[in-house]
Amino acid sequence: MFDSGVGGLAVLAGLRSMVPREDIVYYADSAFFPYGSRSVAEIRGRCEAVTRELLGLGAKLIVVACNTATSAAIAHLRESFDVPFVGMEPALKPAAEQTISGKVALLVTPQTARGEKLAALVDRYGAEVTVETLPAADLAERVERGAIDDDGTRELVRRYLEPLRTSGADVLALGCTHYAFLRSMISEEAGAGVTVIEPSEAVARQVQRVLAGARLLKSAGAGSVRYLTSGDAQAFEDVRRRLRDAGADIPETEPIGAE
Ligand code: DGL
Repeated sequence: MFDSGVGGLAVLAGLRSMVPREDIVYYADSAFFPYGSRSVAEIRGRCEAVTRELLGLGAKLIVVACNTATSAAIAHLRESFDVPFVGMEPALKPAAEQTISGKVALLVTPQTARGEKLAALVDRYGAEVTVETLPAADLAERVERGAIDDDGTRELVRRYLEPLRTSGADVLALGCTHYAFLRSMISEEAGAGVTVIEPSEAVARQVQRVLAGARLLKSAGAGSVRYLTSGDAQAFEDVRRRLRDAGADIPETEPIGAE
């Protein structure tokens, strides 16, 4: 699995319990973070390079644990490589099912907000509900530094969620894996009348389904977790510790231990 940085770690713990026998390599493309302000061509280039690296390590399925990368590159990856890819997209379907007011909001990176994939998704549910897209510049960057419980991040969240005060949206879908680490803060700032949802559990279930369907699930042994990054390995380890200290559920490296 890969993300531009630490965001996909929000998917990892759930995935680990869904497929406990599998060996999981988590690749953080930190040297190229953030994807959210890059062009589609740049993101595709990086996704291709990371995919090659993961395939070189023997990957049998790749989780694109990043909404921005999914939006910009998953169709291209599926055309170019012969393994199954599971991607992330904002949980608009459950949002449309849960809303009572008929208005839902989506918190996404600026690149996802501009993407055709989001436009198509909004079109698909747009007849049933009104969708308000909230692009959040710099928010993933704060999570990437491990700043998930500080005042500056809360101030930014408050600012991006300001439109919710008047729009009447009662469901907020998180459309960037980094934001999952801010779920409680986002919930508090969105207010009691807004339900916050994110898709990582659904993605973990989808991985299990795809592996089972292709008869690729391991049937014995304990799985492992290994972390790799295109950036600085020590910095990546430090931010994982910071996120854990702030309460995030992030597996330790086990048992092969290669960083
Ligand atoms: N984690 C990425 C996502 O889910 C966004 C972070 C970035 O901008 O690179 O969209």
